[in-house]
Amino acid sequence: MNVIASSPEGLEKYLANEIIDLGGFNINTYKRSVSFECDYATFYRVNFFSRVAFRFYREVARFACYDRLSLYEGVRDSFDWLKWLPSEKTFNVQVTGRTSSLSHTHFSALEVKNSITDLQQSVWNKRSNISLDNPDLIIHLHLNNDQGVLSLQSTVQSLHKRGYRPASGNAPLKENLASGLLKMTEWNGTKPLIDLMCGSGTFLIEAINQILKVPLQSQQKYLFENWLDFNKDIYLNEKKKAQKKVINFEKLSKIIGYEINKDVFEQAKVNISLAGLENYIELQNDDFKNIQFKSSEGMILCNPPYGKKIGDENELITLYAEMGEFLKKKFSGWEFWLLSGNPRLSRYLKMKSSLKIPVSNGGIDCRWMKYLIR
Ligand SMILES: C[S@@+](CC[C@H](N)C(=O)[O-])C[C@H]1O[C@@H](n2cnc3c(N)ncnc32)[C@H](O)[C@@H]1O
Repeated sequence: MNVIASSPEGLEKYLANEIIDLGGFNINTYKRSVSFECDYATFYRVNFFSRVAFRFYREVARFACYDRLSLYEGVRDSFDWLKWLPSEKTFNVQVTGRTSSLSHTHFSALEVKNSITDLQQSVWNKRSNISLDNPDLIIHLHLNNDQGVLSLQSTVQSLHKRGYRPASGNAPLKENLASGLLKMTEWNGTKPLIDLMCGSGTFLIEAINQILKVPLQSQQKYLFENWLDFNKDIYLNEKKKAQKKVINFEKLSKIIGYEINKDVFEQAKVNISLAGLENYIELQNDDFKNIQFKSSEGMILCNPPYGKKIGDENELITLYAEMGEFLKKKFSGWEFWLLSGNPRLSRYLKMKSSLKIPVSNGGIDCRWMKYLIR
């Protein structure tokens, strides 16, 4: 299969590594996507295990596409819709990109839909219905450089929705972004991990699930089960192997989260329990300045308010200054990673970073900053 994975911006390299580890090959990275080739088993595996991808798209056709007519005919002639989409199955169409004369994605999606349903109608005198929420197939068209690429989407929902976070605190991180940031730290589960302001607990949950290779727990509907060449034996075999792969929990180091806001803390508790990790995370409803834990080494993470979505920037100056003082006083020898969305504020830490990696957090241009606390 030829597959495209969509990625958070800045994490493409980490997604590519994840895909290589899971068995993908001929990898290419682009801005916000990674393309690769794989067999059925790997395709099912990446859907179970990729912690960074948003979605997987299996390419099924490519055709020259400049205008309405070439789109309509290209869709109709480039793929065997009559085999893959019986009239009793529902579908919907998603479009990204544009060509010079196809600039409205909504219009292009309608043309794709018309092309397929007209074909069905002409042969069978009946056609598939459109379903936005619960389709059997999602057909994706990407337009670029006068070319149309048709793909089938593997899931209805984005894979970052793991299913453990109905409650999501203030300005939560997307689960796949949290996971990618953790991959950058190279934390391997042997040193203590503290999240100073854990919000809904995303870093803590992702950190553990990633280390223990827990398959994504999402209540996903896998659309590939409806594909003509779905291989149930390989799928069930991979599913069984995925469930067996989980590593022994006893090897994990101490994992601690602090959250000052009572409501957000309660939500984090629910999320951690839904993820089945309540025995592995120590969660405190308190100011991070009251952390008592002592160890000569470990890793501290923090995704503080930036003064953009939450918090008043001037009040936050004090918070950042106190954080810098606290870390230097109590955690000398540790590694500290800060997701900074406001360079003015991070200067108040009065610490010198050893690494700054650009990432986008919900459209906010951020830096994932590494500090060695002295
Ligand atoms: C941007 S949110 C963190 C979001 C989190 N990464 C998630 O995915 O849900 C920042 C959090 O820091 C908490 N916070 C602010 N000041 C704090 C303090 N002094 N000690 C502990 N938590 C604090 C806020 O209540 C808020 O929930």
